[in-house]
Amino acid sequence: MCGIVGYIGKRQAYPVLIKGLKRLEYRGYDSAGVALITESSGLQVYKTKGKVADLEKYTDGKDVTGTIGIAHTRWATHGEPNSTNAHPHISASGQLAIIHNGIIENYAVLKDQLMEKGVEFRSDTDTEVLVQLIDYIRTKKNVDLLTSVRMALRMVIGAYALAIIDKDNPDQIIAARQSSPLVVGIGDGEFFLGSDASPIVEYTDKVVYLDDQDIAVINRNSDHVEFVNVNNEKIDHEIKKINLNLSQIEKGGYPHFMLKEIFEQPQCLMDCMRGRVNVDLNNVVLSAVIDYRKELINARRFIIVACGTSWHAGLIGKQLIENFCQIPVEVEYASEFRYSNPVIDNRDVVIAISQSGETADTLAAVELAKKRGAFIFGICNAIGSSIPRATNTGSYIHVGPEIGVASTKAFTGQVTVLTMLSLAIAKARGTIENHEYETLVRELNAIPEKQKQLLDECNEKIHEIAKIFTYARNFLYLGRGYNYPVALEGALKLKEISYIHAEGYPAAEMKHGPIALIDEEMPVVVVATKNALYEKLMSNIQEIKARKGRVIAIVSKDDDKVRELADEYIELPKTLECLEPLLATIPLQLMAYYIAVAKGKDVDQPRNLAKSVTVE
Ligand code: M6R
Repeated sequence: MCGIVGYIGKRQAYPVLIKGLKRLEYRGYDSAGVALITESSGLQVYKTKGKVADLEKYTDGKDVTGTIGIAHTRWATHGEPNSTNAHPHISASGQLAIIHNGIIENYAVLKDQLMEKGVEFRSDTDTEVLVQLIDYIRTKKNVDLLTSVRMALRMVIGAYALAIIDKDNPDQIIAARQSSPLVVGIGDGEFFLGSDASPIVEYTDKVVYLDDQDIAVINRNSDHVEFVNVNNEKIDHEIKKINLNLSQIEKGGYPHFMLKEIFEQPQCLMDCMRGRVNVDLNNVVLSAVIDYRKELINARRFIIVACGTSWHAGLIGKQLIENFCQIPVEVEYASEFRYSNPVIDNRDVVIAISQSGETADTLAAVELAKKRGAFIFGICNAIGSSIPRATNTGSYIHVGPEIGVASTKAFTGQVTVLTMLSLAIAKARGTIENHEYETLVRELNAIPEKQKQLLDECNEKIHEIAKIFTYARNFLYLGRGYNYPVALEGALKLKEISYIHAEGYPAAEMKHGPIALIDEEMPVVVVATKNALYEKLMSNIQEIKARKGRVIAIVSKDDDKVRELADEYIELPKTLECLEPLLATIPLQLMAYYIAVAKGKDVDQPRNLAKSVTVE
């Protein structure tokens, strides 16, 4: 959940590292630090509590020269977020500096053993144990850095992406990966390291994604990077080309990434459907469904595993697949699934949904399902990340990098892929009528245009509504059918960025408990579009109004009744019921955004959260 960056080459390392940290700050922002081997003063480490901007202030006027360095932005796991626990950590001898993303599970045992040998620790972190262990082995056994890293990693249990430098060797960085992402960028006489490719993209498009147990030996004067495993066996890696441009990872004039990403959704969905949805030919084509037709159409059952927003997309996926393909679907929290004893075998297909492709719980759920023989299909955004690499096949959502911690465009991208997947499978199984399929293809294709129209029409109005409700301490979100997960998603967005308590509920469940909460202080957001359950939702709204609750309704353009009852309403362009989440979610994303901004919250980097949850 931390971000790591490294550089060795011909330019000054510090600006490359700082820029890289800013790109990776979405992964954690409790503290930041940098280690450089400077020309005049040797190994220099600067670190501070807070964000990368605080680190920049802290280094102001200090010696930040040098053409080799490593840097870190932290999401705290072991030890409170202060400057002592910030990375890089230095070994007691002052010889080695390390940065680490992950968790060393057996750190306490290793720490005790090292302390018995007289090693003194400064921080409360698991990471310091790693650097102390490596340095202890290096001096006791009189071996080189690579050998000591290999030996130490054989003793370590846990997850890591790490980079280490030696004060006496300004020509080498050693990096390693186990369960946490790490990318090496290969430039012309220079090398880069990053938790993802975003710190690297403006310098080179040649990268290697490390696999678990890989160690990279990066030498300044070499034209390549050597890869070995902990047993010193050589590993060959294909150099990949990154397909990412700079504008995708910058704010492009918006005040926050979240707002930019909300407004990008029409373009993102066009990108997601490009080459897959063809209105002229009346079809939906997913290469994974062509390549693995047998496994997918004969599935006895689908099990969707995911976390957070991706789990909400999974709840919509369940309805789509069951309705169109007539195959039963279960939706599981990956964190629960991984520790359960699921009854699955090779007739089951597990769908893993993850924006980052790195979520530790989802990855572990995939591994468990794989062990039990299930066929695994991934729906991810980050190209080349761990989950797509662990699956049998899958479809990327192609919405571009999502930087705001609150997931927005990834959600609609995931729902779009789930819609295409269910249509492609349903067609292949013959469980959908031709005319229904054709209507769906047409309507799905029209969604980006309708999103554009919706964004144009509702943005200002929601901005105003948000000002009215900034006072609220609690919110209720209600929806039914396809819009029940939309209610859950709206509530999650609000709580994670504005810190207002919010609950999502299926509307009809309100009378079984939550109705007791309703009074004149309580805003209730109701997704009440004109579909089969419209009349029922209207009764729910009457019940709220009877208790003086304040209703913000999301209604269809042709609505004539709900708008009369509601205190505020937002109109959605008409579409098919199963596609409504692709529209109805947008006003809820905007409302959470504007409320959080009005409350002065850090929208892109909300407290206690990180974009990529690579720990349990
Ligand atoms: O990268 P993933 O989709 O696997 O992430 C899952 C959740 O951590 C993520 O959706 C989280 O809930 C977001 N902050 C929600 O906005």
